Amino acid sequence: MEAVVLDNLSKTYPGGKRAVQSVSLSLAPGEVFGFLGPNGAGKTSTVKMLNGILKPTEGGCRVFGYDPVKEPEKVHMISGIVTEHARMYDAMSGQDNLIFYAEVFGISGEEGKRRARELLEQMELTEAAERKLSAYSTGMRQRLSLARALLHHPRVLFLDEPTSGLDPESAQNVNRMIRSLAEKEGIAVFLCTHQLRYAQEICTRYGLIEEGRLLAEGTLEELRGKAFTESSVRIRTGQETMRLSIRSEKDIPGIVKQMVESGKDVYAVEEEVPTLEEIYFALTEGGKKQDE
Ligand SMILES: Nc1ncnc2c1ncn2[C@@H]1O[C@H](COP(=O)(O)OP(=O)(O)OP(=O)(O)O)[C@@H](O)[C@H]1O
Ligand SMILES: [Mg+2]
Repeated sequence: MEAVVLDNLSKTYPGGKRAVQSVSLSLAPGEVFGFLGPNGAGKTSTVKMLNGILKPTEGGCRVFGYDPVKEPEKVHMISGIVTEHARMYDAMSGQDNLIFYAEVFGISGEEGKRRARELLEQMELTEAAERKLSAYSTGMRQRLSLARALLHHPRVLFLDEPTSGLDPESAQNVNRMIRSLAEKEGIAVFLCTHQLRYAQEICTRYGLIEEGRLLAEGTLEELRGKAFTESSVRIRTGQETMRLSIRSEKDIPGIVKQMVESGKDVYAVEEEVPTLEEIYFALTEGGKKQDE
C-alpha cells in the first residue's frame, strides 16, 4: 500500500487564497520525498491537511489508507510530525518532555522511560537530558522534536523544515538520521524544505510546488531530463580545457576517441551534471513563464 496519497488535494482559505491547487502524488514506504518550493508555495498547508489539522476544500489525501479528515486519530498513531516551531514544555527537562509525550501515545512507565533514553541517545541529547527545555538551543529543540515524533515508531514522518536554524554539522546529522530511518526501517518521509543541497543528499524523489501548483515531480534524473535537454562535458588536454555540449553521456567516448586520434593527450573528462538547485531554478522560472 502507498504510504501517502494526495488526490487533487486543494485548499482555498477563507478570504480566497488558493494555497494548494489540485495536487496529486503518492509515495511508497521507504521513500524520502522532497517537497520543495519557495515561501508561500503551499507546503505547510499540504502537511496540515495530511495531519487533519486543516480540511481540504477539494480533493483529498490518505495516509496508509486512512483519511485524515475522517480518522485523524488513526493517522496520528502511524505518523510523526516535526514543524518549524515545535511546542513542548519549557519548564520541563528534555527527558521529561519525551516521557510525557510517550504517555500520550500510550507508552507508559519503564517502557516510556526506555524509549525516551534511546531516542535522546540517538539524537545526541543524552548530556542535555535533564536540562530544562528553556535552556535548549534551537538545534537541540529541533532534535528533541524529531525524537518526540519518533516515540511511537511511526510509519510516516512529516517534516516541515526540520533543519532550519541548525548549524551545518547538526543539519547533516539530522539528515543522516532521516535517511537511515527510511532505509533501515522503511519509514516514508515527506520532507518540506528550502535547503536544496541537503535535499539532494537524502531524497529519493521530489515534487516542486509553486503558488499551490505541482510544477514537476520525479527522481533527480527525471527532473534533470525535464529541465535540460542537453548537458555538457569538460575535457582537459594539456593546457587547454574545453566545454562541449552533449545530448547524453553516450556521446562522450566518441568525442574522446576523436581527440586522441587527432593527436591530443586527454588528461581529464568530466560530465557537468546540473544540481538539484539548478534544476529547481530552471523549472520554477519555466513555471512562471507558462503562467504569464
Ligand atoms: N490561515 C491562513 N489563512 C489565509 N491564508 C493562509 C493561511 N495560512 C497560509 N496562508 C497562505 O497560503 C499560502 C501558502 O502558505 P503555506 O504556509 O502553505 O506555504 P509554505 O510553502 O509552507 O511557505 P514557507 O516556505 O514560507 O513555509 C501563502 O500565500 C499563505 O499566505
Ligand atoms: Mg511552511
